[in-house]
Amino acid sequence: MPWFSVSKEVAVGTAMLGVAFATGVLAGKKYPSIFFGASKSSKAVIGKDSLLWQYILDHSLREHPLLKKLRLLTLDHPWGRMMVSCDQAQLMANLAKLIKAKKVIEIGVFTGYNTLNMALILPDNGRVVACDINEDYVNIGKPLWKEAGVEHKIDLRIKRASETLDELLADGEAETYDFAFIDADKESYNEYYEKCLCLVRKGGIIAIDNVLWHGKVLNPRKDDLATQSIHFLNEKLLRDTRVNISMIPIGDGVTFAFKL
Ligand SMILES: C[S@@+](CC[C@H](N)C(=O)[O-])C[C@H]1O[C@@H](n2cnc3c(N)ncnc32)[C@H](O)[C@@H]1O
Repeated sequence: MPWFSVSKEVAVGTAMLGVAFATGVLAGKKYPSIFFGASKSSKAVIGKDSLLWQYILDHSLREHPLLKKLRLLTLDHPWGRMMVSCDQAQLMANLAKLIKAKKVIEIGVFTGYNTLNMALILPDNGRVVACDINEDYVNIGKPLWKEAGVEHKIDLRIKRASETLDELLADGEAETYDFAFIDADKESYNEYYEKCLCLVRKGGIIAIDNVLWHGKVLNPRKDDLATQSIHFLNEKLLRDTRVNISMIPIGDGVTFAFKL
């Protein structure tokens, strides 16, 4: 097909997007929700219940058997949806491997899916500092860390993550970490980012989770502190010359900040 000719499907699709955009703009929305998939649930780009997401998993997920076991166990938990998306976790592990990561910070462990994911790819003398306030959640995944033979790489700290980050800084560990994953209370995101930026070395990576926050960042309400906080950091990161960034529509959205 020549470049100037479009099929009927493309023409109809383009017209529909135009109508959706106009409808969104006329309705006073900054962005038409149709761009983000199922508008009712505000799911980002590819919904977790979509066939396309299943296809992605079927054709790219190489999940360690114990990670799979932990994922299925966590899905049974009433708060199972807090778990990181498995395709996103795999991407983060690949990036961490690429930069030969040895030291990782996990802010928000939950049942420990991503903690295990990271511990599995670190060298034997590598370390994940795993921060959470809720030991009950962590205890669900801990036996699997042991079963996987990586328990010795995990330094679990049960207290507020901001305290742990302060301790690491006070211990002279600034600029020694390779990778940090921010995935705890959203109101503290800016604080976590600034502290991680001190702790991560040049060339290291900070991954910030839930940057799309189920689509709520499109129209942040003034009384919604979590959304305000995420949106604030998204705007700040856009102009932050200390890092290069990529915002990726995977899971609930993740921004990678590459420290310069
Ligand atoms: C979205 S879950 C983390 C998911 C996890 N990264 C994974 O791999 O599945 C958020 C976690 O942050 C923890 N959390 C909330 N506030 C915290 C705080 N101030 N300090 C440390 N952890 C906190 C919660 O207990 C919860 O386990």
